[in-house]
Amino acid sequence: MRIVLDRETGTPVNRQIADQLRGEVVAGRLASGERLPAIRNLARELGVNRDTVAAAYERLAAEGVLESTVGRGTFVAESGDAAAPKAAQPTLAPQVERLLEFERARPRYPERDGAVRMHALVPEPSLYPVDDFRKALNRALVEGGPELLLYGGPQGHPALRRELAARLSDAGIAADAEDLVLCHGASQGISLGVRLFAAPGDAVAVEEPTYNNVLATLFALGIRPVPVPMTHQGPDLDALERTLSRPEVKLFYTIPTFHNPMGISTSAAHRRALLEVAARCGKPVLEDAFEMDLWHEGPPAPPLAALDRAGWVVHLFSFSKSLFPGARVGSVLARGRPVEALVALKRSTDLSDAQPLQAALADFVKSGAYDRHLVRLRRVLASRRAALLDALEEHMPDGANWTEPQGGYQVWLELPEGIDSATLGAEAARAGVLFAPGHQFNVDGRPSNALRLTVAMADEPAITRAVSTLGALLRERRERGAPAPPRAASVHV
Ligand SMILES: Cc1ncc(COP(=O)(O)O)c(C=O)c1O
Repeated sequence: MRIVLDRETGTPVNRQIADQLRGEVVAGRLASGERLPAIRNLARELGVNRDTVAAAYERLAAEGVLESTVGRGTFVAESGDAAAPKAAQPTLAPQVERLLEFERARPRYPERDGAVRMHALVPEPSLYPVDDFRKALNRALVEGGPELLLYGGPQGHPALRRELAARLSDAGIAADAEDLVLCHGASQGISLGVRLFAAPGDAVAVEEPTYNNVLATLFALGIRPVPVPMTHQGPDLDALERTLSRPEVKLFYTIPTFHNPMGISTSAAHRRALLEVAARCGKPVLEDAFEMDLWHEGPPAPPLAALDRAGWVVHLFSFSKSLFPGARVGSVLARGRPVEALVALKRSTDLSDAQPLQAALADFVKSGAYDRHLVRLRRVLASRRAALLDALEEHMPDGANWTEPQGGYQVWLELPEGIDSATLGAEAARAGVLFAPGHQFNVDGRPSNALRLTVAMADEPAITRAVSTLGALLRERRERGAPAPPRAASVHV
């Protein structure tokens, strides 16, 4: 029996344990009458609190899957099929079934103390300017009074829209606060932006590799992602034109600055050419600028939205990576009728976001605290990036290559042909190094020899140690002989 915990998913650990144990019973790997490990032992093995395991056992006992007898222990219930659905279950929508299939194929990262967490794209909490934010939140509550605790308008807090519009204008985008809709992180922005133009049954062009959660969003909407191959210079524009010419493909989702997972940024010339392709095909572009503030080698090329003459680019921004993700604040910028439609979509989705957080962020940005934080964060990022690139140079074998991003947290490492990064990932996890294997960023989930390394949760010594461990694992593999055969693809489409 193997239980793998993932603290990134947001699913409580006791639920994860219960779900996996139930799965073992349903699959017949835990038979009726079989004894489960003592709570104390399982808690120790998983590195969790005893109460967590006890809660999982209690949940399964309440469902009739397990039985506990004082003094004897916990057993799989005699009715062997207790874990199987008892009564008829409601039929889930096909797109939700598709989403569940995608979720089951997501990599799970084992929790182990001391592991170097280079899989995570979440800035570590020690970098958060908590004191400055607390002051901003206090000021916002005092100034806003009880009215701040009402529902806000669906477009979001006007003060934060004004601050963001000014920042976007500084980045070259002619933005007005009235063109912005604030939302629950760029994630919600993706969903709103896609829903502007695509309906269930339609298709959306995405880069491959791409941000894996955009795939989940599309599946949940019953929309098919169509891959456009990435090069180290950005999406292949010939392939993009062929894809966008198809009538069922309604828009292109792209991450031109500090791409996730590749870390690259496209040139201004590539951006202009991309806009020409989109214009020739008459298709809008959803620009995800989730890390646009995270440059450390000078500002990147102007955003697509700054180069867009036609007003067909919808631009997403987020505070999640440049500040912290817990405020769940992002924005969508559009022009003309799509703005009206975005406001309607936002209202129909959740009425409005949390006003106190948006007001606090407006104050935080206006006070200069955000820019001061960015100066510090960019310094940290630049130093960690240098440590990562030096370590890759020193420890990677011939045939490996990697991107050299000018900002953001992520670097894309391509291993020599024939190495499946998912199998290397399992070995690396045992050796205390976590990274994000590349297959999850492919639309069809096929195996990949590439992987994403991030510096969001690892400092310089940890980065150096981790890359040296990866180098040693790769050397051992080469000495052992031929690389392991690639796994079968877990097909997503
Ligand atoms: C490319 C990309 N867009 C959007 C998001 C989600 O950001 P948010 O926290 O603002 O919803 C992420 C998170 O990793 C991301 O990688």
